[in-house]
Amino acid sequence: MSWKAGRISRLRKLWIIAAVVAALCIAVVTWRMLRRGPSGMGTRVPEDHGAVESYPDLPKILAMPASADRGRKLFFDINGSQCGNCHVIAGRGTDFGPDLSQIGRKFSKADILDNILHPSKSIVPGYETYVLRTKSEPARPGEIYVGFLVKKSVAEVVLKDQQRQLIHIPARAVESLAAQTISAMPEGLLANLDKQKVADLLEYLATRR
Ligand code: HEC
Repeated sequence: MSWKAGRISRLRKLWIIAAVVAALCIAVVTWRMLRRGPSGMGTRVPEDHGAVESYPDLPKILAMPASADRGRKLFFDINGSQCGNCHVIAGRGTDFGPDLSQIGRKFSKADILDNILHPSKSIVPGYETYVLRTKSEPARPGEIYVGFLVKKSVAEVVLKDQQRQLIHIPARAVESLAAQTISAMPEGLLANLDKQKVADLLEYLATRR
């Protein structure tokens, strides 16, 4: 008797697990379809939707009083936001990434935030990271170089690496050259900044026109 009861409840358990898995699959598929919107209509989620979604404090941040002056200090704080380590504004900073002197003309605060939170979502033309492999030869194994593509001609490929050094590679040595979909700008830069600091930073950037 007891083994039979045990078998039935085990079967029942399997059924319950199967039902839960099926329900989850349906939920995930529905959610994905809903997110994608009506198919074949070319509908897109509004640009700053992502920022609001992944940064629920955004409405609060947009509403709070902020200081562009404090934002500027934070932007150029090497250990704070690190922005100035890679970006120039009004001639100050390091020109690894694009110049942000007029970023307030291009983007709203929500869109600026979206770009900081999701650097790889859209990559500024000319700032795609390329990976170049050289041909492997008996005396010299193939090498890998990473950087922005500065030039590509029949004679050579020129990359600009993270230290902003130009690397010249003769075209005949190139085995492959491929653009990456991941931005050279890291994610998570705002992780250690409180709401006030994020508001100040956005205020500073939005007023760069
Ligand atoms: C390690 C270097 C690095 C750091 C640090 C960095 N960025 Fe970037 N950023 C880049 C690069 C490279 C790009 C261009 C590639 C891209 O669009 O993702 C970029 C792109 C951007 C863009 C999009 C510009 C446009 O015209 O579309 C914004 C806005 C931006 N960064 C803001 C910031 C802010 C604000 C900070 C500080 C919180 C920051 N970045 C820190 C390298 C960096």
